[in-house]
Amino acid sequence: MAQEQPRVAVVYATEQGSTRDIAEFIGAELAGRNATVELANIDHAPELSRFDTLVLGCAVHNLDFLPAVVGYVHAHRGEFEHCDVRLFSVGLGPALRGPIGRRVGRIVPKSIAALRDSISARDYRAFAGCYERKGIPLRTRVAYRLMGGRYGDLRDWTAVRAWTDSIARSLQLPPAGSTTIHP
Ligand SMILES: Cc1cc2nc3c(=O)[nH]c(=O)nc-3n(C[C@H](O)[C@H](O)[C@H](O)COP(=O)(O)O)c2cc1C
Repeated sequence: MAQEQPRVAVVYATEQGSTRDIAEFIGAELAGRNATVELANIDHAPELSRFDTLVLGCAVHNLDFLPAVVGYVHAHRGEFEHCDVRLFSVGLGPALRGPIGRRVGRIVPKSIAALRDSISARDYRAFAGCYERKGIPLRTRVAYRLMGGRYGDLRDWTAVRAWTDSIARSLQLPPAGSTTIHP
């Protein structure tokens, strides 16, 4: 008998769009490997009970997830234990360089760790996003530079692809056929 396609909700919260791009990429890759995928902004998140897996992604602002995700998790607590949740964040940590930057970049902010644990996420991955120099206060710029911080589009699509691949393999999806082009 043919195996049923896993149903995956890919839900994201973004302020400036880089998290949405990553969520779109993950959704397209999984759909291309035979999963039934629904991609949604967190404000239009679908009913969780219709899905086997939730891939939830959020931008990091001020060492926390965006309020929309915090509110979503609060409103739906109790539903996550029946769902296989894979969580990702999009911030600056993974792009920091140098001995201090690499150490700082590996730290998961407390409130993000607490949210991750509260939904029993099976997997959590931090990705680098985008950061523009314009409008950043001097003090923040200096501290950021000392940690090896850079500006621009810092997203690492190879890392995103590798994580997506690990999700696909755990869902027993077939290997990727052709390569999805990232934005
Ligand atoms: C106001 C503001 C605060 C931020 N705070 C953090 C932070 O505390 N930690 C971090 O790693 N990145 C921080 N960032 C960087 C964002 O996470 C990064 O720009 C990310 O790509 C945003 O995702 P989005 O484009 O989906 O909104 C901040 C960015 C802004 C604009």
